[in-house]
Amino acid sequence: MEHQSQKPSSNSIIQIGTGFWASKVLLGAVKLELFTKLAEKKSMSANEIKSSLELNCTDRNLFDFLDTLTTFGFLEREGLLDTAVYSNNINTDFFLDKKKLTYIGGIIQYFNNRSYDVWGNFEEALLTGRPQSEAKKGGSVFDHFYLDSVKLKEFIHSMSGLQMENFILLAQNFDFSKYKTLVDIGGSAGILSLMVAKNHSHMSCISWDLPPVTLIANEVIENYQLQDRVKTNCGDFFKDQFPKADIITMGNILHDWDEKTKLMLLRKAYDALPEGGVFIAIENVIDDERKKNAGGLLMSLNMLVETGTGFDYTFADFNIWSKEIGFKSTSIIPLSGPTSAAIAFK
Ligand SMILES: C[S@@+](CC[C@H](N)C(=O)[O-])C[C@H]1O[C@@H](n2cnc3c(N)ncnc32)[C@H](O)[C@@H]1O
Repeated sequence: MEHQSQKPSSNSIIQIGTGFWASKVLLGAVKLELFTKLAEKKSMSANEIKSSLELNCTDRNLFDFLDTLTTFGFLEREGLLDTAVYSNNINTDFFLDKKKLTYIGGIIQYFNNRSYDVWGNFEEALLTGRPQSEAKKGGSVFDHFYLDSVKLKEFIHSMSGLQMENFILLAQNFDFSKYKTLVDIGGSAGILSLMVAKNHSHMSCISWDLPPVTLIANEVIENYQLQDRVKTNCGDFFKDQFPKADIITMGNILHDWDEKTKLMLLRKAYDALPEGGVFIAIENVIDDERKKNAGGLLMSLNMLVETGTGFDYTFADFNIWSKEIGFKSTSIIPLSGPTSAAIAFK
């Protein structure tokens, strides 16, 4: 009935339908290193950008590209067309300048080089229930990365980009004062451990992952000069028990797997914690009504196309699982965008 008094609008249908146009403009700008070059020069005219990026499009195409990025809020612009001068804004300068440790372009490159094709077969994933990534051929999607050191490095750095701001916010917003040790399971490049150690000088952290991954993490830890309090340790969460610590964290781990595996991982975390210890999952926690967190729901569909059996979950789901394992209480801290820290206390 409500619909009769409203005028139908196709606006949101067209906007979402052309979402990949917007996405490709940003992905292309990162691939061509526009933000890194702007950070170096501070600001550039359209023509300077054209020669720096070695573009061969018309000036009109060039202005459209740069002004689209300006309307998205990724560039600042003074002047117009021929007189325009472009620069990064605070976000693109901090997160998309390749020369900064806070660079998250790895995940943008991953979206461009890989996710774009994998998502191209989204309908196939719905029709068959099968992943459309390398996991289509069997094994987990991770097994394929471990076979190729270049691909693995790209994957690990892309994961850092996806979670960088979340780990910074976790380090700033969770009360670490009562704890001394942290083990990050599936710690990838070690970014979570690094952010916690950087912000809390009393904390010692271990980034725990499979051997080829910890080699990459060691290089990153060296770059941050935090080797005294951030170490790596190798393990396989399907075979090994977790090292004991006051806090066990998992960033984007539970969502990779089916419910049985999620519970197995939660149980191992519980067993590694002392009484009063804490488990923290940093993931896209979907709102309980499943009506608001579109990013979280999309991430869950991303698990379908990537892994086949993984899925993201609500805080209500997390509460049920934590209770089943034996955790005493839970809480949640919102982080960046669709991501939260779901916390369970032993
Ligand atoms: C989706 S990534 C998440 C990385 C990181 N925690 C983050 O939040 O960005 C999954 C991580 O789990 C690790 N992993 C996969 N299988 C594993 C296993 N059997 N044992 C230990 N780590 C594993 C991968 O190497 C990878 O670093």
